[in-house]
Amino acid sequence: MPHTIVIFGASGDLTSRKLVPALYNLHRAGTLPPETRVVGFSRTPHSDEAWRASLRESTLRHAGQEPFDESAWEAFAESLFYQPGDIGHREDFARLAERLAEVEESHASTRVYYLATAPQFYEPVVAALGDEGLAGEENGPRRIVVEKPFGTDFQTARELNAQLHAVFHEDQVFRIDHYLGKESVQNMLALRFANTIFEPIWNRRYIDHVQITVAEEVAVGRRGAYYDTAGVLRDMFQNHLLQLLMVTAMEAPSRYNATAVRNEKVKVLESIRPLDLREVAGAGVRGQYRGYLEEPGVPSDSQTATFGAIRLEIDNWRWQGVPFYLRSGKAMSCRTTQIVIGFREPPLELFAGGGSGHREANRLVIQIQPAEGIQLHFHTKVPGDGMRLTYTDLEFSYSREFAARLPEAYEPLLLDVLEGDASLFARADEVEQSWEIIDPFVRAWASVDMPPIPVYERGDWGPLASVEWMAAQGRTWFDQCPVLT
Ligand code: BG6
Repeated sequence: MPHTIVIFGASGDLTSRKLVPALYNLHRAGTLPPETRVVGFSRTPHSDEAWRASLRESTLRHAGQEPFDESAWEAFAESLFYQPGDIGHREDFARLAERLAEVEESHASTRVYYLATAPQFYEPVVAALGDEGLAGEENGPRRIVVEKPFGTDFQTARELNAQLHAVFHEDQVFRIDHYLGKESVQNMLALRFANTIFEPIWNRRYIDHVQITVAEEVAVGRRGAYYDTAGVLRDMFQNHLLQLLMVTAMEAPSRYNATAVRNEKVKVLESIRPLDLREVAGAGVRGQYRGYLEEPGVPSDSQTATFGAIRLEIDNWRWQGVPFYLRSGKAMSCRTTQIVIGFREPPLELFAGGGSGHREANRLVIQIQPAEGIQLHFHTKVPGDGMRLTYTDLEFSYSREFAARLPEAYEPLLLDVLEGDASLFARADEVEQSWEIIDPFVRAWASVDMPPIPVYERGDWGPLASVEWMAAQGRTWFDQCPVLT
């Protein structure tokens, strides 16, 4: 069956920087299903030709593949159509319906509605799709993709779910978190469930703690007005960091399908120990980079956190007593996303005489980006006299192993939506549970009783308070910038 992707917010950044370049790359690779059309909807009065021309320029910049394949673009651009319209005007949806029938030549077609608008437009678009009969599945499947942010707390996420469910059933809803589209995140499932060697040690008997870091070198830049209302907890923790935690901590699903995978992920969230306001204050540290207050759109007295580190405990048989440390920040030393499995120390120190004091425990480091790969750190005897040991590693690197370029996260996710596979998308209960975990931190950090937010220098690993907080728990952060080859 042919496919039609209808993008609301067609003249926005997401469309030009991510969605259309991803679709073009899929087309170029021959993996976009034949007869896939894209219909853009937004207020800017473009013609099809003008929209195609502007997308050619942006795709040239953002597709990430040199050289640009002009003939592939020409062929792809023929399936791009533009329908000007205002989300607030119902008659524009009636016109959109007519245009879709024209583009689809009145044949049955899988239709994907993509909400690439600002979040306040999600609800009116969904309501209009319902009222105009555009959600009915008499003429092929209808799906809706919802971007982040999905609400701003538990209550608003729940309301948004209710608005969606008034028009679409849950199987039609695809809540996107682009982290799940990253190759190295999907590889966590392969690492854990396609191998047997990790499972016996993937638990409280052998693991001391887990560190999940998403460090960004970039600062807030032009996004100050949005960012100041979100802060790092809403921007990164509720979605991306909790997704990384879930794929690290979940049990093996009984099958690889959306229901089984998401059931296991939700169980992890349900097992996270709830914290009251007092406990939350000690279960995290926040920070703000120096210069944040001068960013455009940021109030000069803002206490918004641009860095955060929190500790979560998972109360189940596998993880009881193994803290999960989640950390993220802007304007940090380097761009790196990594999951570090910190193993326990040996029960007996046999070679104390041969080294220099305390030895680090084994570590499995999963480099999510940008130097995608996996390293296993362990001790080795230095050749020569005595039992002198050194820390060495086994390393797997994507770039060494695979010649092909790693697809951008949106590419596999868009294909999954077209195929109706929701395994890598958040379910309604999953987003609500995520907010329930993050909300207490948001409330505590916004409280007037909090001391002034600690400041860190750009290029640091967050404020000193974060190092001290870890040290007070007898642990140290694993701060390592990736080596790019
Ligand atoms: C987005 C956040 O969801 O993820 C941004 O809003 C952040 O603030 C981005 O920079 C990080 O994504 P990636 O893929 O570059 O790690």
